[in-house]
Amino acid sequence: MRVAALVLAAGRGERMGAAGPKALVSIAGHPLAVHAIEALAACDAIHLVVPVLPAASLDAPTTWALSARARAKLAPSVAGGAERQDSMQAGLAALPADVGLVAVHDAARVLVQPGDVARVIAAAARSGAALLAAPVRDTLKRVREGRVVATEPRESLWAAQTPQVFRVALLREALEKARAAGFQATDDAQLVERLGAPVEIVEGDPGNVKITWPADLAFAAATLREREEAS
Ligand code: C5P
Repeated sequence: MRVAALVLAAGRGERMGAAGPKALVSIAGHPLAVHAIEALAACDAIHLVVPVLPAASLDAPTTWALSARARAKLAPSVAGGAERQDSMQAGLAALPADVGLVAVHDAARVLVQPGDVARVIAAAARSGAALLAAPVRDTLKRVREGRVVATEPRESLWAAQTPQVFRVALLREALEKARAAGFQATDDAQLVERLGAPVEIVEGDPGNVKITWPADLAFAAATLREREEAS
């Protein structure tokens, strides 16, 4: 079964405070989107990588110094939409008909490891839908107007990461039903959960962070450099 990855890179990244789109901010010599594409292309189970970019940056890949392996898997870029779910939908619509599984990935998660990508793909191939996630480490407080109103039991709470992998037909059905209901999700698995379909959790590395704040950039750059030196 052919497996495609969507690299969602069309966000504005307002929390980052950068002048341009977050996924085009450079660390360790390359834009975040390039690190994410390289991480996915390094997984043998992925055959095709589709960047979903801001409409104004669709030709950015022509300027990227990608490895030969990533370039061989790179598909034409697709313009994203106003919300993350719109960008995912645009990428999904662009997939060739022979793709059976799709791995949806945040371009801002540049530290994902190819072994974890392979494990979540294998889980989705069995069950139809699976995501990487990490058990919540901190105690979680529910807060209203600066005051704690409850402490949530964390034993059964996991923090969702990406990639999240789905049978293409299942994700298409989930997306159509969400759109019909006017439902916007912050991740893709939630759309499939709404159908009542099983979604498998694959324990991922807590270091697979989504770069959100400027301080995350320094952490990710240091980790990428360490890995480069170790290889
Ligand atoms: O905004 P958030 O941090 O949840 O974005 C997660 C990922 O989704 C980022 O990699 C971002 O570039 C992408 N995104 C997108 N299109 C949007 C909003 C977010 O591709 N409209």
